[in-house]
Amino acid sequence: MDVQPGHCWRCEEKILPEHTVPCSRCPMAVYCSTLCRDKDSIRHSAMECEIYGDKKCSACDKLGKLLECSACNSAWYCNADCQRRDFPLHKTTCRGILTSIKQLSSKLFRLKGQYGDFPEYFGNTLARDFLQLDNNEWSGKSVEEKLELDRDYHVLSAGCGDLRSTVLTAASLPAEYQGKLHVTLNDRDPFVLARNVLFLFMLVRFADTDYISSSLTTIWYSLHISKKEYDLVKTSLDELIQMSAQQLSDATRGLVSVLNEELGYLGHVWRGWQSLECRRGNPASINLRQQRQEMFENSDQELKVERSVYLTCLNANDRKQMKKWFAHGLFLSCEANQRDIPFDNPTLTAQEASKRIAAYGCVQLLQISSEMPKYLISSKRMPFSVWDCLRVREHTPGSHTSPMVMYHKYVTNLLQKVKSLILQGRLLSYVSLANCLDFPNHHQALNMPSYDRIFTSNLADFHGFAKLLQIFKPLLNTNNSFSVIVTEIVGLYINVPTADPWKLPEPQFQKVISNYSRDWPTTKAEYHYIFEYYNSTPPFLQFLRADIMAGECGTPPLQDAPSFESVKKCQGMRMRDFRKELNKLVPLRCRLDVRNLSLVNVGCRAVEWLLPKTES
Ligand SMILES: C[S@@+](CC[C@H](N)C(=O)[O-])C[C@H]1O[C@@H](n2cnc3c(N)ncnc32)[C@H](O)[C@@H]1O
Ligand SMILES: [Zn+2]
Ligand SMILES: [Zn+2]
Ligand SMILES: [Zn+2]
Ligand SMILES: [Zn+2]
Repeated sequence: MDVQPGHCWRCEEKILPEHTVPCSRCPMAVYCSTLCRDKDSIRHSAMECEIYGDKKCSACDKLGKLLECSACNSAWYCNADCQRRDFPLHKTTCRGILTSIKQLSSKLFRLKGQYGDFPEYFGNTLARDFLQLDNNEWSGKSVEEKLELDRDYHVLSAGCGDLRSTVLTAASLPAEYQGKLHVTLNDRDPFVLARNVLFLFMLVRFADTDYISSSLTTIWYSLHISKKEYDLVKTSLDELIQMSAQQLSDATRGLVSVLNEELGYLGHVWRGWQSLECRRGNPASINLRQQRQEMFENSDQELKVERSVYLTCLNANDRKQMKKWFAHGLFLSCEANQRDIPFDNPTLTAQEASKRIAAYGCVQLLQISSEMPKYLISSKRMPFSVWDCLRVREHTPGSHTSPMVMYHKYVTNLLQKVKSLILQGRLLSYVSLANCLDFPNHHQALNMPSYDRIFTSNLADFHGFAKLLQIFKPLLNTNNSFSVIVTEIVGLYINVPTADPWKLPEPQFQKVISNYSRDWPTTKAEYHYIFEYYNSTPPFLQFLRADIMAGECGTPPLQDAPSFESVKKCQGMRMRDFRKELNKLVPLRCRLDVRNLSLVNVGCRAVEWLLPKTES
């Protein structure tokens, strides 16, 4: 359920077919070695084996491929006879589950529509490769057939946040691929899009230099920057502020287009950044370091505990270096002297969303006030959580003085590839500042092409699945059988108490703990990794049913809990059933314990939706 095909289910290294070691209980898991299989056995048998392996009949205990109780999805039977016989016993559990779905759906309804105050300058989920051609259009194809598929691809990233997934996608295109990648970036936060447009502009504007990739990595993440980097930002802002949308498009040879005449909003942001005093040590300076420290001091106790737990799970050197990062927030290509980085990074500042929101129903655009932008990166956000540390280590072999240097090198290498695509005119970005619910109108008005992929970030947490599928389905490219809408949520265990092992009744909790402590030394008894030993798929099924039941923004709520079978056909789409097959773009959920540096969000779940009656 977690791992992309062709990779070991423990270490996630790519494995060759002749080396695979299968799980003996289920048809899904494969390992690079018996060592990896054994290391994963306790976790995996408590988790995916339960989902993909044989089921036990609730009436007669027989094992096999059984029929599921369609009301609750949590009991299995040989046949109708066994089901009838078990009913008197099962009915309480079964009805209990339906009741909790109903309760959940009314609670979810109230949770929707809450907004975070922080602009997503770093993001909080792993960067996604939107295309993964080898796993989709190009899978099982010969070289000649692949070249026939060398057409352009169109991706919509709704609620896009920062550029990390665009960067990863562009940098992951197979070397043989010669087409163009068109990415539409939709977000309703002008700060986020102003930062994205600035970064894209910088890549194009300074593409002929060899330092722009490395400098941009620093500007993306580092609290302080060098004079050279500050000048790059300043020059770019000065130029951008003068431009109309047409001039921006011309200046970037059509590579960066801002849609629906929203450039004015971005201009406000750019002027705000331009007006900040960034020279450190200057009495009038914005002093980001102090602002960052204050923000952490004022954060809740839970975050402080999370940080100390995170540190205990690292090796000694990484721990030492990460402590430093928590203190100084520097993200540079090498260890640098403080004197060489004399500027605060203006692109890490913004205005709080709650102060900017002018809400009218579901349709809204954030306004910008005259207030000075201030440091506004949530203390929970780290560059280490958004770039999968397994991939970072894989692509930057050798030893590094710190995780920062390793990650810096990784992101720089990705940007280097993006830059070369840009030089070839093969990465085109269309920027749309709008509520995602309004985007389809703009799409239609501008007569834009349909999409091979629609990624919706975790907008499902705000708007519900049904609404997103309803509005985005008409935008999918019906000529491509691999066209897909990806929905994600990050708040599963917040919404559904039974998804959180820490909230389980004592006996169940003890069972999870005992699995966990058999696998891990008890001194490592950490909050985070326990989630790895608890199968939260049944609560997730309930969540999906409750979410569809709740409706949102014009999608009416339902009287009764929909069956999972009908959830799978929501809005006439076809859900890739994560209980039967693996996702092809985004794992349903990510392995945590092999990703210590990344501190992956435990509540993140991704679902893929296909057009009906298409091959996949
Ligand atoms: C959904 S948020 C959450 C963070 C996300 N998981 C990430 O890692 O980037 C991502 C982005 O969606 C944007 N967003 C939230 N609601 C939106 C809406 N209704 N329309 C468009 N963008 C929205 C936010 O401004 C934010 O930049
Ligand atoms: Zn392995
Ligand atoms: Zn198994
Ligand atoms: Zn039976
Ligand atoms: Zn049942």
